[in-house]
Amino acid sequence: MNIAVLASGGGSNFQALLNAIREGVLPARICAVVSNNSAAGALDIARSQNIPGHHLSQKQFPSVDAYSEHLISVLGDHRADFIALAGYMKKIPGTIIARYRNRITNIHPALLPSFGGPGMYGMRVHEAVIASGVKLSGATVHLVDEEYDRGPIVLQKAVEVTPDDDPESLARKVLKIEHEIYPQALKAFAEDRVLLKGTKVWIR
Ligand code: GRF
Repeated sequence: MNIAVLASGGGSNFQALLNAIREGVLPARICAVVSNNSAAGALDIARSQNIPGHHLSQKQFPSVDAYSEHLISVLGDHRADFIALAGYMKKIPGTIIARYRNRITNIHPALLPSFGGPGMYGMRVHEAVIASGVKLSGATVHLVDEEYDRGPIVLQKAVEVTPDDDPESLARKVLKIEHEIYPQALKAFAEDRVLLKGTKVWIR
């Protein structure tokens, strides 16, 4: 499986995927990294590992269509057959979602369908979790469809929210879980163990 990673930030989830590949846990390769942010740590990691990195932002193109077309050609050039969003902050154009239907995953730092959707990203998620008083949070890997954070859930793992947690400490706990379950979920795709049953997804 040739995975293209799309990342906007530090890239610790990308790094976790690389570690799993290196350890022989994840039978896949990262064929390219695409970031909308030229200063993304994920692009630095790509450079250090000799993985092709691309800075691609919609702002560089006259229209969404022109941008989508270019992104599709970049993915094709690297023979990407799977897209892993890893802290990617931009919306994926509809043509790409259609082209890679059920082959795009995202990792979200909460237990969806709670604490997701437009505006629910980064520290805002953990602030909302703490403010709500829920006792469990966690991470969710889901398929990407046309709606933010709404695609079928592939894998989740919970962490406890404790009385001494603040958004920062919760974010650290959740990120640790993200680094566990993202490689696990992608391993299931790579080994063809992901079962689509209607709108639900199960790992065999
Ligand atoms: C993670 O919490 C991820 O769930 C969220 O953005 C953060 C990215 O972290 N979507 P990193 O760039 O992978 O370190």
